[in-house]
Amino acid sequence: MKKKILNFIKKKNKSKIICLTAYSNSISSILDNYCDLILVGDSLANVLYGDRNTHRISLDTIIKHSISVRRGVKKSLLVVDMPKNTYNSTNQAKKNAKKILKKTKCDAIKIESNKKNFKIIKYLVKSKIPVMGHIGFTPQFSKKFKISGKSISEQKRLINEAKKIQKAGAFSIVLECITANTAKKITNLIKIPTIGIGSSHYCDGQILVTDDLLGLGNFYPKFVKRFANLNNIINRAVKKFKNEVKLERFPSKKYSY
Ligand code: KIV
Repeated sequence: MKKKILNFIKKKNKSKIICLTAYSNSISSILDNYCDLILVGDSLANVLYGDRNTHRISLDTIIKHSISVRRGVKKSLLVVDMPKNTYNSTNQAKKNAKKILKKTKCDAIKIESNKKNFKIIKYLVKSKIPVMGHIGFTPQFSKKFKISGKSISEQKRLINEAKKIQKAGAFSIVLECITANTAKKITNLIKIPTIGIGSSHYCDGQILVTDDLLGLGNFYPKFVKRFANLNNIINRAVKKFKNEVKLERFPSKKYSY
């Protein structure tokens, strides 16, 4: 396993792991100052392209954005999401993951768990492709937004799923929208870091969609804290621009040749 990945795993039980999403070089170059891991998530589909879900983003689109993100990342681990239907078989997964790694120079790929694709993770890891898992709410495979891990049977199923992903060789797992109690148990039972999104402070690290954290989105589930309100800031700036152009105050002499 590469040193960068090993160092990431070693952060478990030492200090909270900071992760965020990026789709462009301008954002990733800022995030790189603060993050341990930057993810080019397939949330790109709804967040940037305005799609209804993440299902139709292509491999080439995610590669294009990842190349841009890579240019801004110097120290963080760069992880790229494999889009839906690009890892339906072991051979397809290996071919597409290799393409992502080669073209984007990322450090690892992430695949969502459909509760039975452990064989794919194992095959990729054996082929020297570092893999991050993703359980709980998995938008590529779940039709409706749902919190997982409420019942004892669901808790057992999630613990088992996390253990199988670890056994398959993944270096970390995203826990999305899992109850605090279940996220705590999973985090304590596995040796690789858990990265939570809507899954409580018990996880080893946290990830959010950066646009949500910045208040640029239009859908805010309970787990999203807006650390800024860029929507308001942009509105105010554009309104000012409009007024100044209408009043012929912009561009003044200062901004003219
Ligand atoms: O696509 C994405 O942005 C993700 C994160 C929410 C973990 O998978």
